[in-house]
Formats: sequence, structure tokens, C-alpha cells
Amino acid sequence: MDQKSNLNAGKESDRRVALTGFMGVGKTSVARHLANLLRCERLDLDSLIEVSEQRRIVEIIDKDGIEQYRRIETECLKQALDKKSVRILSLGGGAWTTPVNRDLIRGQGVTSIWLDASFNHCWVNISRSRKERPLARNKAAARKLFDERQEVYCLADWHFVVKPDLNSYEIARQIKDEVFS
Ligand code: S3P
Repeated sequence: MDQKSNLNAGKESDRRVALTGFMGVGKTSVARHLANLLRCERLDLDSLIEVSEQRRIVEIIDKDGIEQYRRIETECLKQALDKKSVRILSLGGGAWTTPVNRDLIRGQGVTSIWLDASFNHCWVNISRSRKERPLARNKAAARKLFDERQEVYCLADWHFVVKPDLNSYEIARQIKDEVFS
């Protein structure tokens, strides 16, 4: 794991992090373990969107389109960042690719962590998951997005390479040891 920037390096006790990375990399599970290890509050941006819209993400994207979805996502991100008690935020895989979202995250002094796994690793998880992902309905579309996004995920403060033999608990432990110490 390497630190690409220490602009947002705060004290361990008050550090807040946002997990980014491609669909299926395990952001939500890692966030859950990390919050348990640190005994702190976490929030999942996709869940917040579904609760505040009272609709599933797949319905929002399929009915209103991806641009409207991104607007809603930004509004919900603002709400999430305003909840100062939340220290662990798991983003949806596209949230970090919107420039205004990156500015909001950095502007609040939140440390961003890119969970970086191979496309095949993500695709296996996407295929097995019950979560419906309208932007990854077929492998070719998902692969294209994956390739396009690498250079944007790279802009995160920390880069964590997810090796295939690491489970989400072990990833959370390593993040705790390296980012929160
Ligand atoms: C998206 C990822 C999804 C969800 C939406 C769009 C994306 O979240 O926000 O379907 O653009 O990569 P996960 O990364 O949790 O699957």
C-alpha cells in the first residue's frame, strides 16, 4: 500500500476516509470491517442514495438516466460528508470519477483510498453478487469502464493493491495499521 499524498493527513483520532475503486472490489465490506475495528460510524453512499430517493439505484439509472443519477449522487455525498460523526465512507464505484465529488471529499479533509484489484477479480464478484449493477450488465461494458477509470482512481491519496488471497477483513486490518497510525 502506498501513500500518494499527505495533504489530508490528520490525527488518527479524527481522520475520516472515503473508499473508492471499481464495482465488485469490496468497498462496502472493507468499510464495514474497518468501522468495526476502529469502533466508529460508517456510511455507504449507495445505501444513502436508495434511502433518500426511496428507490433502488438500478431504477434511478434506468428511468432517469446516468446524468441525473450522478446529480443525486453528488447531493447525497454532500449530506454524507456533512455527518461529521461518520469516519468511514464507502463510495459507489463511479462517485470518485466526478470531479466535483473529488473536490468535495478533499475540501472536507477526507482521506481517499483506492482499492485496486484486477478486472477479473472485480468481475467474479460482480457476477456472484445479488446487487444489480446497471453499468456492468455485460463483461465488455464493465471492462471498458474499468480501463477508462484507472487514471482517475489513481488520484486518490492512498493506493491499496488488493491481492487475490486477501479477504475484506485482512484488507481492513492493513488499512487500519497503515492509514490510522
Ligand atoms: C456505479 C457503481 C455502483 C453504483 C452504481 C454506479 C459505478 O456502486 O453506485 O451502480 O458507476 O461504478 P458499487 O461500486 O458499490 O457497485
